[in-house]
Parts: sequence; structure tokens; C-alpha cells
Amino acid sequence: MESLSVLGGHDKDGRPEDLNLTLRRGDVVCVVGPTGAGKSRFLEDISCLAQGDTPTGRSILVDGEPPPGELRYSLEGRVVAQLSQNMNFIVDLTVGEFIRMHGECRNPAGRGGPGDGMEAMVERIVAAANRLTGEALCAEMPVTRLSGGQSRALMVADTGLLSPSPVVLIDELENAGVDRAGALELLVREDKIVLVSTHDPALALLGARRLCIRGGAVRRVIETSAEERQNGAILSAVNGKFMELREMLRNGASLEFDMASFLKEAVV
Ligand SMILES: Nc1ncnc2c1ncn2[C@@H]1O[C@H](COP(=O)(O)OP(=O)(O)O)[C@@H](O)[C@H]1O
Ligand SMILES: [Mg+2]
Repeated sequence: MESLSVLGGHDKDGRPEDLNLTLRRGDVVCVVGPTGAGKSRFLEDISCLAQGDTPTGRSILVDGEPPPGELRYSLEGRVVAQLSQNMNFIVDLTVGEFIRMHGECRNPAGRGGPGDGMEAMVERIVAAANRLTGEALCAEMPVTRLSGGQSRALMVADTGLLSPSPVVLIDELENAGVDRAGALELLVREDKIVLVSTHDPALALLGARRLCIRGGAVRRVIETSAEERQNGAILSAVNGKFMELREMLRNGASLEFDMASFLKEAVV
């Protein structure tokens, strides 16, 4: 699969949505809009490869054609990997067992099958997850004990490194104690189409485009300008400062210092 196109349907009042959007591998697109605007619905339309049969009437084309039925309905479809807003583990597995199990299901060709390759993969994924969250996790931890930030980091690392799906959807990657810019980098490096819904300006400006949704329809597609990109870099640096403060707080440090100067370091 090389491209994915979204053809407009209609908004919540039934008015046509003027949209013909094509995404290619390596594209990162953010989805913004008020709560209830239809961001999750937009991602779900992509996830199920809608064919005019969802509440929005949108249609999705794969490489310019309507996808064959088996691509839509097979659980092994593998076109789309989705990181949903709610993540609760109910399986009695450790982090390492979880990754191994996923790896064996996927058995990605040439990317370390079961056995030694898989142990290296477990290590890579745990290490990548640890770069995304301040709360260290290890392969021996039960997944049910992971915090929200740790679960999110594990899922992002697992999807980025192990999932062969060319399309990755992330619904509201927010303040879960995860390095969001790092998460996007990890997912994008693997040559995927990434769609992220967010309210976070630092994250929204990382995408090359952002889709502005209101009343159930995409109203505007904004290309991220050079100036916005620069501003995004500043916001990411400020975000990094916040992560540092979280870490200090967690470690019982005093926050009695020149906060203004500390934050200004991010801007210069
Ligand atoms: N174009 C549309 N037509 C009809 N219903 C829609 C449309 N877009 C979204 N909805 C519905 O509106 C509700 C809120 O959408 P949702 O995607 O959950 O919003 P958000 O994620 O932006 O908070 C959902 O029930 C969704 O199915
Ligand atoms: Mg939502």
C-alpha cells in the first residue's frame, strides 16, 4: 500500500463535506477540533476503511481504489494499527511476554522472528518505551501494573517497531507522561502514514498538515508553515522543560529556583 485517500461525506447536519485528501507513506497529519467535533469518528472511518456506510458517509480509497472486502473485514487486515484513547490491559502477561506474543502473531519477515531475534526485539522495544516515559519499565513487569504513561509508551514503541501496518492512528496522545514528539518520531521513521488527533499545539505543529474538524466535517486543511514549524520547535522545548519539572517533582526535589530563567533556556 502506498497511499490512502479520504473522500468527504457530510457534516452532522447532512451538508456535504468538501474533502479529497490523499496521504502517502511518511506523511504525518494532525487532527484538531473541539471535543465532540468528530476527530475520533474521522480516525474510525479510516480504521474501518469506510465505504459510505458510517455516520459521516465518508469513503476511503487504498492506492486510489475502493479496498477489497477481505482488506476491510479480516482481523489480520494489517492496513491500520490504532492506538485508542482508552487502554486497559486485561491479560496476565509480563511486558516481555506481551511483546513476544505480538511478535509471534505478526512474525514480521526479516525483522527478528521467534527465538534470539525476538529477545533482541523485546529489548529494543522496552528501550524505546523507556525513552518515551520518565517512569522506567522493564520486560519482567506485568502489563496490568503499568501506569497510563508506561502503557502508552509501550504501545507506541511496539507499534513503531513491530507492527507492519502502514497506517497508524493515535487518538489524543495527551498528557500521559509520554514524550510525544519522541513518540511521533519513532512512528514516522518507519515510513508509515500517521494520523494523530490532539489538542496539544506542540504536537499539532509537528505534522506537515493539520485537519480542522468542526460539526462532524473537515473544514480546513492547513499546511504547517515555516514560522509555525519554528514555533512548534519552541513549544516542544518548553514541553521538555515541563517533563524535566515532572521528573524533579517525582524525585522529591525542591522547585524553589528561578523558574523564569529555567523556562527561558527552552526559548533561546
Ligand atoms: N459527520 C458526522 N455525522 C454524524 N455524526 C457524526 C459525524 N461526525 C461525528 N459524528 C458523531 O459525533 C459524536 C462525537 O464525535 P467524536 O468523533 O467522538 O468527537 P471528538 O473525538 O472530536 O470528541 C460521535 O457520536 C460521532 O459518531
Ligand atoms: Mg475523541
